Amino acid sequence: MEEVQAKKKLFSAVQPSGAVTIGNYIGAIRNFVALQDEYDCLYAVADLHAITVRQEPAALRRNTLSLMALFIACGVDPEKCVLFVQSHVPAHCELTWVLNTITYPGELSRMTQFKDKSAKHADNVNMGLMDYPVLMVSDILLYQAALVPIGADQKQHLELTRDLAIRFNNRYGATFTVPEGYFPKGSSARIMSLADPARKMSKSDENPNGFVTMDDDKDTVLRKFKRAVTDSEAEVRYDPVNKPGVSNLLTIYTAFTGKSTEEAEREFAGKGYGDFKLAVGETVADALAPVREEKARLLADKGYLNAVMKRGEEAAARIARRTLSKVYRKVGFYTGD
Ligand code: TYM
Repeated sequence: MEEVQAKKKLFSAVQPSGAVTIGNYIGAIRNFVALQDEYDCLYAVADLHAITVRQEPAALRRNTLSLMALFIACGVDPEKCVLFVQSHVPAHCELTWVLNTITYPGELSRMTQFKDKSAKHADNVNMGLMDYPVLMVSDILLYQAALVPIGADQKQHLELTRDLAIRFNNRYGATFTVPEGYFPKGSSARIMSLADPARKMSKSDENPNGFVTMDDDKDTVLRKFKRAVTDSEAEVRYDPVNKPGVSNLLTIYTAFTGKSTEEAEREFAGKGYGDFKLAVGETVADALAPVREEKARLLADKGYLNAVMKRGEEAAARIARRTLSKVYRKVGFYTGD
């Protein structure tokens, strides 16, 4: 009899901490869809992570449902993947506690994201903000994920995941799969702000012209691209060092069209930045319109979304419980047998 080979596991998550940007889409969500046939995928709405910075409770609830709808509207298939809300599966917090005991404060205090967020939220530098990466490590290790599709900004956290998995395995015996990161090619792993191409596009940017959200309508998208910072030349050429603004727009354009950079450069040869920005804006707006419509349709059917989440929670909890029991046995917790 032929043995059926189980697919490898894949895990990723997005925080419901505001609007989702095209950076999140290009850097991560697009790959959630691309990899869903090849792997056993679990995707979470990371609400436990979100509260490390202050959230308005009603908005957090709304954003959680909205992100679940967005995953599906982008093409993540709830029949193929496990879609769930992180706080619905208590094992995430339980494993975090155990892993905290093999993590050193220095490993967390030197994390770039911790330093950035501490500077940005100086009035709320809380323990959760510092421990955030260990929670993320737990998310990944609980599901024995072999692959983690993420953008470049999460690379350090993935490295910590590998370090802690290896450390635990060395101390207690083989327990965790050591995961690999899966990053989009080239500069798609780090989409930059339209207003300041030296900075990452971020949903928490105080300048809304810096980012395009998955909810922006056509006029808004066109306006934001029209205002995008470029340079004083008038040549559409990919050169991230000397022409970071134009290069970022080319990256966005190629991500949404599937064209190569060379093809795109040829297409805009001899054209001015006005035409180029309009073309990029129209491409993005046209790609977002059906996603926005589908998301609205899903949000009108809360019963369906709740059912997807419930099913996801049960499936995720089953896998997570298995790993957590193994961890509890390994560290020596008395289990009665
Ligand atoms: P979050 O919610 O900030 O971002 C979600 C995903 O989008 C990617 N991303 C980008 N990619 C390219 N260009 C950008 N400008 C850009 N901005 C964001 C992020 O790299 C991420 O993949 N800690 C995570 C959420 C998380 C997680 C996990 C991810 C919690 N647990 C376990 C993977 C595995 C975060 O804050 O992502």
